[in-house]
Amino acid sequence: MTTILKLGGSVITAKDTPETVDNEALAAAAEAIGAADVEDLVIVHGGGSFGHHHAEAHGVTTTDGTHDAVGVYAIHDAMRRLDDHVVEALQAAGVSALPVDPFSVASRDETGETTLPTAVVERLQAEGFVPVLFGDVVVQAGAGATILSGDEIVVSLARSLGADRIGLCSGVPGVLDSSGAVIDRIADVGAVGDALGESEATDVTGGMAGKVRALLDLETPASIFGPADLAAFLAGEDPGTLIE
Ligand code: IPE
Repeated sequence: MTTILKLGGSVITAKDTPETVDNEALAAAAEAIGAADVEDLVIVHGGGSFGHHHAEAHGVTTTDGTHDAVGVYAIHDAMRRLDDHVVEALQAAGVSALPVDPFSVASRDETGETTLPTAVVERLQAEGFVPVLFGDVVVQAGAGATILSGDEIVVSLARSLGADRIGLCSGVPGVLDSSGAVIDRIADVGAVGDALGESEATDVTGGMAGKVRALLDLETPASIFGPADLAAFLAGEDPGTLIE
């Protein structure tokens, strides 16, 4: 029973101030995860004010790459430093968290198709550890390195691990309709197209619409919810918006 949980960058960082961890929010999330003690948990986190800031500074997106090693390293190193905070906060809350660097294991072909081998993730799980991955740079054929979002990692892991549940803990309480109310359930992107079409694309990895489309393609049900609902998700409930 594998559960994949993504902690959005906007949850664990102060998104508008470069390289600032939201320590209180991170500790609260870590405590909720520690208290829930979910079996076979894999954690992925986003970039927030660490990744996106450096990605923009070096003009790197999910499709526009760079061959500038200094730039690639600046993005990766910022994400590594954020990941240190995340792993340490999780361990402080009693979670057996250990890092897995996507940059060192993932690759992309020239069409943008990503391969993310999971041998290390699965072996860590089998030994009772909680693997922690994060949005990162990824080497791409013909493009140097591009951005691999935490959401894409979640989708890839869900397929290769045959995950049973996905939770995306984000800065909003769910997918919102045009009046700002949380949509309980989405089974068809057409039914909510208008609300999603208007939604944000405020960072280098895109907004809510792409996220929902990618999740709809999966067999695994996914919940999008805010930090206040993290404990409920970990307890087996479907808070926020359920995408299935
Ligand atoms: C972004 O990952 C990673 C980098 C920019 C290097 P995400 O796209 O998953 O991050 P958030 O959750 O939106 O901040």
